Amino acid sequence: MTQTIFKDKSRKLILAIESSCDETSVAVVEDGTIILSNIIASQIKSHERFGGVVPEVASRHHVEQIIGCMEDALAVAEINPEDLGAVAVTYGPGLVGALLIGITAAKAFAWANQLPLIPVNHMAGHIYASRFSNEMTFPLMALLVSGGHTELVYMKEHGDYQVIGETRDDAAGEAYDKIGRVLGVTYPSGKIIDEMAHQGKDNYHFPRAMINENNFDFSFSGLKSSFINLVHNAEQRGEELNAFDLAASFQQSVIDVLVKKTIRACETYDVTQLIVAGGVAANKGLRLALETELKQTLPDMTFSVPQLKLCGDNAAMIGAAAFIEAEKGHFAPLELNAKPSLIF
Ligand code: KG4
Ligand code: ZN
Repeated sequence: MTQTIFKDKSRKLILAIESSCDETSVAVVEDGTIILSNIIASQIKSHERFGGVVPEVASRHHVEQIIGCMEDALAVAEINPEDLGAVAVTYGPGLVGALLIGITAAKAFAWANQLPLIPVNHMAGHIYASRFSNEMTFPLMALLVSGGHTELVYMKEHGDYQVIGETRDDAAGEAYDKIGRVLGVTYPSGKIIDEMAHQGKDNYHFPRAMINENNFDFSFSGLKSSFINLVHNAEQRGEELNAFDLAASFQQSVIDVLVKKTIRACETYDVTQLIVAGGVAANKGLRLALETELKQTLPDMTFSVPQLKLCGDNAAMIGAAAFIEAEKGHFAPLELNAKPSLIF
């Protein structure tokens, strides 16, 4: 099918659009593996004072940014619309209003330039961000850790996703952001808590929920409550707690659970590669702990993480996942709608 959409093109180029949450992003990707441009307009400053993403504010920003991002992505890549083979867009999961801005822009561009439209799952995009670092080898296991998701995904081949475990309550990134509020850290707090954790010690020993349970699911709400209770009780007693040790203790609990369950999943499913992806994959402690543990327990497996700048939301990852969808012949009609709760 890729043969068909790229048949009269000298290069295999996809324009990709991402607008599922608080970044408006447009990229041009060649062969599914080369980034020619990846424009990202972040709205974090606008949401910071609310301590989280305000959906209505996000949609308004996307409307303002999307056309400029599309023009910039083409200009930086030095590409004209007629050079492209397809337009790809995230259609879920995410905020419905935010998704619709990207989808509408993608449809209009596809229609005006007579290009096929490729619908992409945002979480598949996160996994494919790793393909810009290393070729994927199958079967593989992907640990997806973001602000909205924590999942273990088994992949037998390109574009084939089987969720074998997921969080039963909060996502890992969400837990970071919620305890960040209690520590007075600005949203999104994962990066700062990661930095603070490296300056403290695990002195508070928070629980490691479900660590020894015989499944691949996670739970982070108990850890979050335990953290918040400790801080509030100390405040009531007028006791001082060490913020760096709190960050280190929280992070160690998250890492211990993620590492233990991920390694067990790799052993059980007999995979050749481990990918860790999503916003929380930027966590230095997690990257190091997973790589070290994998080397010790499963030395024949390879470890692949996206570059730091590709861990957060961006359109290049959507272009990479779209290339595989195109090869499988998965295209969308112009009636494509947003799917806010899309699963694999
Ligand atoms: O994937 P992403 O950019 O957006 C979603 O699709 O959700 O992930 C954002 C999440 C936020 O919760 C943020 O706090 C977290 O990723 N995050 C981190 C780090 N950098 C970003 N969490 C832990 N450590 C980090 N270094
Ligand atoms: Zn994301």
